[in-house]
Amino acid sequence: MMIELAVIGGTGVYALGELGDVETHQPVTHYGAPSGPIRVGTYAGKRVAFLARHGEGHSLPPHRINYRANLAGLKAVGASRVLALNTVGGITSHCGPRVLACPDQLIDYTWGRISTFCEEPGSEVLHVDFGDPYTPALRASIIAAATHACVPLVNIGCYGATQGPRLETKAEIARMRRDGCDLVGMTGMPEAGLARELGLDYACLAIVANWAAGAGPDPDEVITLQDVLDNVAAAMDGVPRLLGALLGT
Ligand code: HPA
Repeated sequence: MMIELAVIGGTGVYALGELGDVETHQPVTHYGAPSGPIRVGTYAGKRVAFLARHGEGHSLPPHRINYRANLAGLKAVGASRVLALNTVGGITSHCGPRVLACPDQLIDYTWGRISTFCEEPGSEVLHVDFGDPYTPALRASIIAAATHACVPLVNIGCYGATQGPRLETKAEIARMRRDGCDLVGMTGMPEAGLARELGLDYACLAIVANWAAGAGPDPDEVITLQDVLDNVAAAMDGVPRLLGALLGT
C-alpha cells in the first residue's frame, strides 16, 4: 500500500510520537536487514513510515549502518518519498544549535562505506545525476510547509558528510568552512546517493545539535552528548507541526 512519506530518524529521534495505528514491518532485503523495525501508521490522516537510522536503541554507529537495506526496506513497504532527519553540527553563523535547516547541497567526506547499489558483479552500472542531491520538489514542499506552520527553517545550505564516529578537529571544520559547508554530520552519505539510485524522492531536514568544533562563539567549547540530546529535543519542537503541514499539502 502506498506510503505518503517515510521519515528516517537520526540521533535523538527514535520514534514519531504522533504516529497512530502502528503496524511493524521487518523486511529482509536483498542487502540484508534495515537498522530496525519499520513502523507504519497514520499521521495527519496519511500513511507514514518511520525508521530509526541508528536502531531504536541507537546501537549502530554511522559507518556501520546498512544504508542500502534501510532504503530498500522503505521502498519495499511502499515508500517513494523520504524525509531524512539528520542531527548535525553547525559551521556557519546562521546554523547555530537548535536551528532546523533544509540543505540544498552536500559534500561527501566519508570513505569505506558501500555507497552504491552497483556493487555486485553483473549489476547494472548507474551514473545517476546528482547535481542537486536533494529532490528539489520535496525541498520546496518542506520549505512551504515550514512557512505555513510558522516553523523557523534555514532553507538553504551545504551538508558535509564526515566519517565519524569521532567528532571533527577544528582544522577539519575550518577546511569544511572553506569548502562551503554550513553543516556537518555523519549520516548524510551514502544515504542521499543511494536514494537517488533507487529513484526515491529524498530531502534532508537537519537538526543542529551543537556548534561544530571551533565554530561557535567559544572556540574551546567541548561538545557533550547531553548538549546534543537536549538541543535535538528542543529543535524537534516544531517538527510535528512541519510534518503535519507537509502531509496536509
Ligand atoms: N559533527 C558531526 N556530526 C555531528 C555533529 C558534529 O559536530 N553534531 C551532531 N552530529
